Order: sequence, then C-alpha cells, then structure tokens
Amino acid sequence: MIEKYSIKKLLDKGKIFLNKTVLVEGWIRSFRNSIFISLNDGSTIKNLQIILSKKNFDKKIIKKITVGSSIQVTGMIKESIGKKQCIELQALDLTIYGEVDSIRFQRSILQPKKHSLDKLRKQAHLRFRTSLFSSIMRIRHHIAFLIHKYFHENGFFYIHSPIITNSNSEGSGKMFQVTTLDLKNIPYIKGKVDYTKDFFKQQTYLSVSGQLEAETAALALGKVYTFGPVFRAENSNTSRHLSEFWMIEPEMAFFRLEENMNVAEDFLKYIIRYILDLCMEDLSFLNEHIKKWNKNSSLLKKLEKILKSTFIRISYTEAINILEKSKNTDFVYPVLWGMDLQSEHEQYLVTNYFQSPVIIFDYPSCIKAFYMRMNKDKKTVQAMDVLFPEIGEIIGGSQREERYDILLNRIKNTNVDNSKLCWYLDTRRFGSVPHSGFGLGFDRLVQFITGMKNIRDVIPFPRTPKNAEF
Ligand code: 4AD
Ligand code: MG
Repeated sequence: MIEKYSIKKLLDKGKIFLNKTVLVEGWIRSFRNSIFISLNDGSTIKNLQIILSKKNFDKKIIKKITVGSSIQVTGMIKESIGKKQCIELQALDLTIYGEVDSIRFQRSILQPKKHSLDKLRKQAHLRFRTSLFSSIMRIRHHIAFLIHKYFHENGFFYIHSPIITNSNSEGSGKMFQVTTLDLKNIPYIKGKVDYTKDFFKQQTYLSVSGQLEAETAALALGKVYTFGPVFRAENSNTSRHLSEFWMIEPEMAFFRLEENMNVAEDFLKYIIRYILDLCMEDLSFLNEHIKKWNKNSSLLKKLEKILKSTFIRISYTEAINILEKSKNTDFVYPVLWGMDLQSEHEQYLVTNYFQSPVIIFDYPSCIKAFYMRMNKDKKTVQAMDVLFPEIGEIIGGSQREERYDILLNRIKNTNVDNSKLCWYLDTRRFGSVPHSGFGLGFDRLVQFITGMKNIRDVIPFPRTPKNAEF
C-alpha cells in the first residue's frame, strides 16, 4: 500500500523520501503552465511542488485543476531542480475531491492579490487557508500547548472554572446575562423580574474571570491554573479588546506579590523562548510580512529583546512621578495620582522611557478589584500589571487579601453583592493563607508574538461589539 504523508513531514525529512512513491492530500495554492501545482495541507507554511507530466494526464483533468480545489496525488519524490524547494512530487495519479465555485471565486480571498485583513475576517473558512492566518493559528496552538507544559512542569494543576456564574468576580465591568426566560413574556414579581422562574432559579451571567474559583482550589491544591474563555460586555471597540477572549489564571498559595511577579516574568519568557524554537518557519514568514508595513520593524528581534530584558519593576506612585516629569504635553489624559493609566501612559513608560517590559505594582485601591491585598498605607493595594510594548497590559494580577475582616469590608465598600460570595469567603474562614495569582490575556499574548496590529486577527471567530458572525 502507498503510504500517506503530511506535507510537513515530507519537506522536513526531505531527501530520505527520494524515489519513494507517496500519497499526499491538500488544497491547491497555485497552478502554473498546466504543469506545476503548489499544494498545501495546512501542516506547514510551505507548499509541496507537484509536477504533472502531460503524458500522464489528459486535458479534461488538467482543465478541472484550479486554485482552491482539493486533491489527492500519488507520485514519486524527486530532487527538485528549482531553488525554492529541495524535493518535489512527480505525479502518477491525481483525484479531485472538491472543485471551486468559479463565480464565488472571483470575490473570494483565494484570488491571488492583496486582500485587507478586514476582508479576510469576513470569509471565515477561506481565512484559514491563507498563509498569514494559518501561520497565526499554528503559533496559537503552540502557545496554548506551551502554557499547559509550563504549568505542568512547575507543579500546577489545571482547574476548569465554570463559564456560567452568578457573581461578578471583578466587581466592575458589564457581563452577558444567561437566561432561558421568554423575553416576550418576562415574569415579574413586585415590579422586578422573577428570576426564580429562570433556569437556575437566579440571575446568571457568562463569567468574566475564573479567579475566585481558582483561589478556592489553590487553597487546597497549592498551585493551580485555569485556561478558558471569559466574556466581557464592555463596549470597547479597540484593537486590543474582544468580548469573548481566552484567559490563563494561575493561583498560588503561600506566594507573595514579588514571587507572583517572578512567575509572571518567567512564564512569559518561557513561552517566547520555546515559540522561537518551535515555530521559526511561521515566525519568519510573519517577520517578512510585517516588514511590508514597516521596513524597520523586526518581529524576531522584538521577541529576542524580551528574552534578554529584565522586566523593570516600579510602583504606581513612581510611574506617576515619571509621567509627571516627562513634560510630554501630548498626553490626551492628564496625569494625576489615583487615575487608571491610559494606554498612552503605558506606552510612554514601556517604549519611550524604559524600552523594556514594565511591571507596575501597588496601585491605588480605588481603581482595583476588591480581592487585592491592602497595603499598610491603606491607600494602595498589592496589584501588579505587566506592560508590554505595542499592546500595553498583558497581565493583571495581585497578592490577594487573605484577612477575612478586611476583605469583607472591601466587598461592602465596593458594592459587590457579598451574599453570593459566601463560598468564596470560606477560603478566609478555614485556614486562610497569603496567596497570589494573575490573569494573562491569551489573545493579547498571541497578538504580541505574531506582531498583528489587531487582536481580531489572532482568534478564529472574533466576538466584538456588534459582531458575532459565524
Ligand atoms: O486585568 P484583568 O481584568 O484581570 C482579571 O480578570 C483577574 N481576575 C486576573 C487574576 O488576577 N486572576 O484581565 C487579565 C488580562 C489582562 O491583563 C489582559 O491581558 C486580558 O486579560 N484582557 C483582555 N484581553 C482581550 N480582550 C479584553 N476585553 C480583555 N480584558 C482583559
Ligand atoms: Mg487589568
């Protein structure tokens, strides 16, 4: 029987297949002079060149071969005379699985010309076929795999936090409601919606974070992490925000803020280091692609620079002092202690001032979530945000408030409904310990590593305000 191979395997192993008969399957990327087919099966950025000899194939078959159609080919691997590849396949037999709709082809992104990223997003299926998006998807896969590998190697357990929840763990921000109530016939009691008639007998939402669940697990298992989708109904139509995105949330019992920062830095460098090892072909392609927008920018150098850097660590107050002294009159938002840093401020610190990733800690309590540990000054909390060039905040985390009374007070003062957090407060009633953790925006990390300007171009089916197609 003739053995089937992925194109990646054939091209990686190259000459060991010389003069062997093999079977390949894939989609046609180009077809030149009725002889040369470039075939891609998604396993690699590279295409396999297939040579059709006119004597083996009649005109009827050759006429049917078009860009985008799917085929199976058996043939013999030969050394290639062309410079682009070391091997090629001399076709002996060819079967067409699926042809291409020729009318729709004219409007499709399979047309060999430049298409905008916006147009790519509108053709969900064919987007995966492009060199650009398939590269990003392969890198995305490897990043996800490395995340599990990192935590597994470091003694963390993977916890599945729920997607449906009845509380807002961040205490701020809008959530998507989950209901089976008939919206045309909503039950009311004393003028309010009667949620006892709803599926869960209460009001429920899509979760914004799995952190509180991760804390409850960490205070038994020691070190845990979550990795799943989270949902935010904020109307943030920016190049860094999605309404549905993936978040990784490690949580560590007995870890203080500084140890938390060490893990965050080590973790990010681990991912980038191994992605440079595992995905060089796709990264090199993206590197060239990005140079078309900006000749001077190098994706590979940018990633290597992160590995060489030691992340700068400064308090929020120090950051404000630097920004105040910057005399940068171009800031749209004036700098004031107590304000949330805007992306212009973050970029000034990371790109202009330090030229390195920056971790800012000890933020004012008034702009951070209720669960962060209060400092002795009673004004700041042990929060930390990791800021990266280009995308700004990539990680947000903190040491948690482990003292029951102080936490309860914070909950009350921040208008969070503590009746729904009894289960969470148990962590502070039964052997509470210092602990900390953080959340990494997975899609933002993929965006940084692939150098894409818009986060929508690194996720297969982006969900953003006014857009949930496909
Ligand atoms: O800073 P955030 O809101 O932190 C939390 O949710 C904490 N519960 C994390 C923790 O301590 N366990 O979100 C964490 C990260 C951000 O730093 C950012 O990278 C990403 O999630 N993020 C988004 N990514 C894409 N689209 C959005 N709308 C995002 N909002 C936050
Ligand atoms: Mg944050």
